[in-house]
Amino acid sequence: MQSQDLLNIAQEHGSPVYVYDAHRIVSQYERLTSAFAQAKSLRIHYAVKALSNLSILKLFKQLGAGLDTVSLQEVQLGLAAGVEPHKIIYTPNGVSLEEIEQVAAMGVQINIDNLSILEQFGSKHPTIPVCVRINPHVMAGGNANISVGHIDSKFGISIHQIPHLLRIVENTKMTVNGVHMHTGSDILDIGVFLYATEILFETAAKFKDLEFIDFGSGFKVPYKEGDVATDIEDLGEQLSERFNKFCKDYGRDITLAFEPGKFLVSEAGYFLAKVNVVKQTTSTVFAGIDSGFNHLIRPMLYGSYHGIKNISNENGRNRFYSVVGYICETDTFAQNRQISEITEGDILAFANAGAYCYSMTSNYNSRYRPAEVLWYNGEAHLIRERETMEDILKHQVPVELALEELV
Ligand SMILES: Cc1ncc(COP(=O)(O)O)c(C=O)c1O
Repeated sequence: MQSQDLLNIAQEHGSPVYVYDAHRIVSQYERLTSAFAQAKSLRIHYAVKALSNLSILKLFKQLGAGLDTVSLQEVQLGLAAGVEPHKIIYTPNGVSLEEIEQVAAMGVQINIDNLSILEQFGSKHPTIPVCVRINPHVMAGGNANISVGHIDSKFGISIHQIPHLLRIVENTKMTVNGVHMHTGSDILDIGVFLYATEILFETAAKFKDLEFIDFGSGFKVPYKEGDVATDIEDLGEQLSERFNKFCKDYGRDITLAFEPGKFLVSEAGYFLAKVNVVKQTTSTVFAGIDSGFNHLIRPMLYGSYHGIKNISNENGRNRFYSVVGYICETDTFAQNRQISEITEGDILAFANAGAYCYSMTSNYNSRYRPAEVLWYNGEAHLIRERETMEDILKHQVPVELALEELV
């Protein structure tokens, strides 16, 4: 997408606004499937949590992908997008048995990540095959909050509990049709990831009814020039070969599954915001935008980096700015960042705004969530309207208190 296209969208749909480039999503999907082309059988489950707009889910359905979901509501969204239940995997953490049963009744593949629920589910529904989420105790991932496969993590069934897991399976006569792991987001080192897959292969060999092995995700995308990214082609080649060998040893072909979010949508997204005020203080120059962590929380939540361009003045002289929001707490998007000279009213474009951006928005400060636009074939399609005061008031139930009766 060109900057002029983004400027036109900001003009037509107002700011702040999220924009997603459909072509980029398609090319990332194709890059991923090509990287694993040698695998006997491949299934990509797009991680809905990254960006859950219905039109995005429909796009993935058209590409032939399945979905990775973590809540009943994400499953319902996937079904609303027309994705077949058997192409949806549900990997919750800490949810009730009742919710798992509800999702299982829809024909969705269940992935269970603790022994307590596994035992209860297996006892009640021995005929429904389940996948089990294994915690390989490998520290991968770019940040403590997104590294989920290590020993202190709340996710998955420890590899040290496999004998107990097998006993539950035997006692309940349930079927385990898949094993799964997710070591965390932003994997920097393929070697560490491949080490974790060896642990999963070793575990998988203990189950005789497998239909798939799901290696989760965590592929890192670049955020700025020179940034390290997961070498997906190298990983694809090495893991496909290893997977095919596993199938041979296992005695039959099963499916290699992944559930990426960031890799597929991060770079396709732009967040456009207008500069309300340029404020010079004794120590810095702030560019205050018409947004805050209610619309883009990643920099404040886990220090993520988003490239910022002044698309209203791309060729201007570079100056240092701290880009901040309008929220009543400190909400700094970028500190001391070189950006081409900013004038009030300019539009800033934040890069890597496809994954975990809109899906983490809130109404904090009673602000509206932004609009979302999908860019396809040179045309901008509005795929979600900006909220209005009606949305803010929708579920509120005003009560008039007769205060004089209280005293
Ligand atoms: C179980 C699981 N699968 C897949 C993903 C997607 O990860 P990513 O967006 O890094 O590809 C996550 C992210 O939190 C996850 O928890």
